[in-house]
Amino acid sequence: MKYNLIYPIHFMQQKIIILDFGSQTTQLIGRRVRELDTFCEILPYNKFPVGDESVIGVILSGSPYSVHDPEAFQVDLSQFVGKVPVLGICYGAQYISHSGGGKVEKADSREYGRAHLEEFDATNPLLKGFEPHSQVWMSHGDTITAIPADCKVIASTANVKYAAYASTTNPVWAVQFHPEVFHSLQGTQLLRNFVVDICGSRQEWSAASFVDTTIAELREQLGDDRVILGLSGGVDSSVLGVLLNKAIGKNLTCTFVDHGMLRKNEFQQVLNDYEGLGLNVIGVDASEKFFADLEGVTDPEQKRKIIGRDFVEVFNAEAKKITDAKWLAQGTIYPDRIESLNITGKVIKSHHNVGGLPEEMHLSLCEPLKWLFKDEVRRVGRQLEMPDRLIKRHPFPGPGLAVRILGDMTREKVQILQDADDIYIRHMQEYICEDGERLYDKIWQAGTVLLSTVRSVGVMGDERTYEHPVALRAVTSTDAMTADWAHLPYDFMAKVSNEIINKVKGVNRVCYDISSKPPATIEWE
Ligand code: XMP
Repeated sequence: MKYNLIYPIHFMQQKIIILDFGSQTTQLIGRRVRELDTFCEILPYNKFPVGDESVIGVILSGSPYSVHDPEAFQVDLSQFVGKVPVLGICYGAQYISHSGGGKVEKADSREYGRAHLEEFDATNPLLKGFEPHSQVWMSHGDTITAIPADCKVIASTANVKYAAYASTTNPVWAVQFHPEVFHSLQGTQLLRNFVVDICGSRQEWSAASFVDTTIAELREQLGDDRVILGLSGGVDSSVLGVLLNKAIGKNLTCTFVDHGMLRKNEFQQVLNDYEGLGLNVIGVDASEKFFADLEGVTDPEQKRKIIGRDFVEVFNAEAKKITDAKWLAQGTIYPDRIESLNITGKVIKSHHNVGGLPEEMHLSLCEPLKWLFKDEVRRVGRQLEMPDRLIKRHPFPGPGLAVRILGDMTREKVQILQDADDIYIRHMQEYICEDGERLYDKIWQAGTVLLSTVRSVGVMGDERTYEHPVALRAVTSTDAMTADWAHLPYDFMAKVSNEIINKVKGVNRVCYDISSKPPATIEWE
């Protein structure tokens, strides 16, 4: 029987459901579960998939709400309690207590930061392998002051009696600390105890199994159909290209559009890499069109709109040449699709396609990476033996250097920025930290911004200069939703600054951007 399921394999495999009550760390819970080689889905708190037999356990996340807030998110626990094991984290723990007849009250002082499990029940399966005084991370304004009658406390800290408790009648556990964060030192052990021992995960979710099953699925799904894919040079579309190439070979046609605002030499280098990987790729130099349409435009939103529109036009023109194409492949990944909730309960991020393909082309969407987190995409790339150059590449915005040049765009400004950025990134790739890792690999994303609307005075040799500053940006992050500025080594910054000022004509000052997101964003425009 030919069935029309895009992801039949995922339906058959075990999964953990993480119900999202709006905590900032919900995605992190998901990533931790995946690190245990177990498939999981993050769903809004009220979207539990009743009747889905592949669910082997449920985790309730934290929340910005107190259980006493009138708007607090409510869930019908009977949908899963008593049917599969349940773990409540923070708000999840308080919610289970509150709805089972326990008591949740305002904490005397907000319980935040490191704490230690002074007393715990080492025989409880959730705490198997825990060491005395294990450090945990607390972050809550409310605290549980009484647990339901059928529950017993299994761990306490100096200030929090009910740091962890368990039901005696149902497979339900609850912790008021956050096992998913790095500062809970045995948090991974706790999640392993829950996911593997308690829920019985077979730990079958791995890069190798993903590659094998996805290639088989793609062959089944696509048959002899022709597929088009827009490559960007980024890790997601590159991994997708290689995966599809392995599955359907020459039936995949890729396009890689140069809008003229990529990094220095990037277009040619990436094109060579793609060809080296055996991809059937058409490189399209459309920079003339983009520069012409951007001439004199200074407003950041306007610049983004023009680039987005031009990109769709150029891509469509290429796609139309492939007259027998049936599918459009996209490198959508899981964080692009997770419906994160904000405090009003509104979904603040939902699936956004590159979009805009004309209807008459009747292309179906193929998105085989849509269940993966970014680090999993990288693992799949490694499994596919792709070069580190492509896999470890920092994310780069679609509009490219246009969002890193203030004001209007000219080829000259792009070239100045490319030269400065090339020095910055090259040094970052060459700099080896004390632990032997490249500085570049410790950073989520780095780039240079040309402050072309600003001039400052300098002196070079005997001459006065009046030129532009550049700002270096480097951030650490896990998903780009939040980011911290990176603490770059001073000797590294000194080297980069010297070389940029000495070698890049048009730049006489180098600044370092020390803003976190929020309130700043990663890109300047
Ligand atoms: P912000 O500046 O919003 O960026 O903190 C978050 C992440 O998204 C990237 N970014 C984009 N990526 N098209 C893209 O494909 C865009 O228009 C775009 N704008 C920002 C940015 O580089 C960072 O990784």
